[in-house]
Amino acid sequence: MKKENNINHYIDLHAHLDGCITVGIAKKLAALQKITLPSAADEELLSILSVPDTCEDLNDFLKCFDLPLSLLQTEESLEEAVYLVLSEMERDGVIYAELRFAPQLHTQKGMPQETAIQAALRGLKKSPIPGNLILCCMRGDSNQKENLETLELAKKYLVKDGGVVAIDLAGAEALFPTENYEDLFAKAGEYQVPFTIHAGEAGDADDVKTAIHMGATRIGHGVRIAGNEEVMQLVKDTGVFLEMCPTSNRQTKAVEEMSAYPLKTFLEKGLKVTLNTDDPAIERTTLSREFQYMESLLNLTEEQKKQLLLHSVEAAFTSKDRKQKLKEQLLF
Ligand code: ADE
Ligand code: ZN
Repeated sequence: MKKENNINHYIDLHAHLDGCITVGIAKKLAALQKITLPSAADEELLSILSVPDTCEDLNDFLKCFDLPLSLLQTEESLEEAVYLVLSEMERDGVIYAELRFAPQLHTQKGMPQETAIQAALRGLKKSPIPGNLILCCMRGDSNQKENLETLELAKKYLVKDGGVVAIDLAGAEALFPTENYEDLFAKAGEYQVPFTIHAGEAGDADDVKTAIHMGATRIGHGVRIAGNEEVMQLVKDTGVFLEMCPTSNRQTKAVEEMSAYPLKTFLEKGLKVTLNTDDPAIERTTLSREFQYMESLLNLTEEQKKQLLLHSVEAAFTSKDRKQKLKEQLLF
C-alpha cells in the first residue's frame, strides 16, 4: 500500500484576530451583541468582509478591518471570537496557532486594553487547540502612549504557553517607518518580551534590517528582501524566522509577480521560512489552502512542506515542552 504522507497538520504563527472574522463568525458576533449587520445576505457580507479585486496596496487592504473591528468591542465578543476563530482553524487542520490582536483597537466603546486582553485569554482557554496570543502595537503618529501600555501589559501577562507570549508591530509600514519604534522595542528587549515586527511587506529590505537590528527574532512577511543579497544573508546568519503569507502578499501587492514568489528560493538558500495566513477571512483563504497554493504555484515538495512546519515549531513563541509535543504530532 502506498504510504500516505500528505500533510494535513498545520501551524499558523501569523494570523490577526480581526482578519479571521468570516461571515459565519460575524453573524454569531452580531447576534450575540444585537448588532444589525450591513446586509443579511451572505454573498454581500462576504464582499464587505473580504478584500476587493481593486485592492491597490496594504493601505487599501487595511480598510477592510472596519466591520470586523466594530464587532469586537466588548469582552463577550472578544472572548467568543477567539474561541470561534481557533475552532475554525482546528477544522482546517491547524494544531497550534498564535493569534495576534491589537488591544488598543478594541477600546472604541471604552473597554480598557487590559480588559480586552483578559477577555481574549478566556477565549483562548476554551480553544480546542493549543495556542497563544501576540499583542500588536500599531504604527501611527499619535498612539505612542497606547503602544507603551500594550508593552507594559505584555510584560505583566507574559507566559511561556497558554497566554500572552510576545508583541508585534502592525499597521501601515510605508507610512510609519520601522526606526520610529526603536525606543519601544529597546524597552521590550529590557523586559525580555519576545517580539516579531511586520517588515519588508509594504516597506523594503532595509526595514527588515532595521527590525533585526532592533532585536526582532521573527519578521512578519519579509518578502521584499528577495533580490537583496545583503539582507538575505543577514536573515540567514541571524537565524531570524520569516512569517510568510502568500495570498496576503498578492492582494496587498507586496510582490509584483506571484510566479516569482520567493518562498521556495528562501527555503533553498537555508532561510528559516514559515507559512501562515495573515488575515484569512479578509483574503478568503485558510492555512491548508495556502499550503496547496504554494504546492501548485512553486511545486513545493512534501519534504519542503515538512520543513516549513518544522521551522514553525522552532519559531513558535512557546515552551520547549509545547514544541516537543508539536514535533511529535508532526512526525508523519
Ligand atoms: N494588520 C492586519 N494585517 C496586516 C498586514 N498584512 N500588515 C500590517 N498590519 C496588518
Ligand atoms: Zn500581519
